[in-house]
Amino acid sequence: MAGSVPTVSELFAAARRRYEQLFGGDAPLIAVCAPGRVNLIGEHTDYNQGFVLPMALPLVTVVVGSQTCGRDVTVVTATEDADEPHRVDFSLPADGAPLAPGLPRWANYVKGVIEHYRAPPVTGFRAVIASSVPMGGGLSSSASLEVAFYTFLQQLQPDDGDKVSKAVACQQAEHSHAGVPCGIMDQFVSVLGREGHALLIDCRSLEATPVPLADPGLIILITNSNVKHSLSGSEYPLRRRRCEEAASAMGKSSLRDATMKDLEEASDRMDEVTVRRARHVIEEIERTVQAAEALRRGEYKEFGRLMVESHNSLRDLYEVSCRELDELVSAALEVEGVYGSRMTGGGFGGCTVTLLQAGAIDRTILHIQERYSGTPTFYVTTPSEGARVLSLP
Ligand code: GLA
Repeated sequence: MAGSVPTVSELFAAARRRYEQLFGGDAPLIAVCAPGRVNLIGEHTDYNQGFVLPMALPLVTVVVGSQTCGRDVTVVTATEDADEPHRVDFSLPADGAPLAPGLPRWANYVKGVIEHYRAPPVTGFRAVIASSVPMGGGLSSSASLEVAFYTFLQQLQPDDGDKVSKAVACQQAEHSHAGVPCGIMDQFVSVLGREGHALLIDCRSLEATPVPLADPGLIILITNSNVKHSLSGSEYPLRRRRCEEAASAMGKSSLRDATMKDLEEASDRMDEVTVRRARHVIEEIERTVQAAEALRRGEYKEFGRLMVESHNSLRDLYEVSCRELDELVSAALEVEGVYGSRMTGGGFGGCTVTLLQAGAIDRTILHIQERYSGTPTFYVTTPSEGARVLSLP
């Protein structure tokens, strides 16, 4: 019932075929991949230096390619996106001039990563991208492309940084070349994700604690609403700014350092919307720590309860949910055997994540299909490894 997704080997084979067709039969010498993610809890907390609990997905972006002699770069995407050209050609600036963002938009992630790579490439390359992460679906297709590309550049010309600085460089690429002031969660888990584990990431210290999540009696179901409202781009920076204003009104460097008592005391110095936004973040940070503890102890009911609280708070206080996501969550919660369900990612469309007993999967999918006014896509998923080099057969 859940949609079938191409495996890493199938994506790799498709990318290689495309590469050989385009570049005179030459086989690529490098192949890498990086995953998308789903966030189990801890939403809009990363840019407030709080905690998040995502896991890496089996959905990945694959990049294959080879170095060339000059400074010319050609990148082709085999991923369906009817609006934009599938190929981009540019030269690496010889004088250290910046690689400016432009069109097609997907190429900005590539340019941004080149720009922030710690050992700037000196020779050109050709590459083909293939991905199973749905574009704009809230599962971090952009972070998986950035991290896959960074991993590709590491094969061309090794850098000397650690994995955390790799994630930070990819986040900077998103800031400078895609214009999204995102937090660190997506890139971090795409680099450092662990098979069979969610990661409790402390977005202030940038340390992560793996939390086991491989109970065969448990299923993590992602439901894509297949809607994306135009607000998603403009509202994100506004939310971020409000949080910064709230923190500074309380004399804190971030909302991570604020308590509900601080908020109550400072509430007459903030407007009512800012108070609601800050309340979501302060409580969500606390919920995330509690949820990680519940998961560690196998208390799935408690984990599910916290997921629902998180969703309600995102809907009512942070106001980043939408009718479609609320419908999907309500439908899931009507099914016996479902522990919890919530929107995941930035909001205004994209996906929900649902935790349920393995035996309840068929009826859950059927019920959501019946109740949802749109056409959902389902992924039954497991926590997977972060970015990696693929061995060429
Ligand atoms: C997007 C951003 C992340 C995070 C989430 C909300 O996915 O890229 O950094 O802020 O939204 O939790």
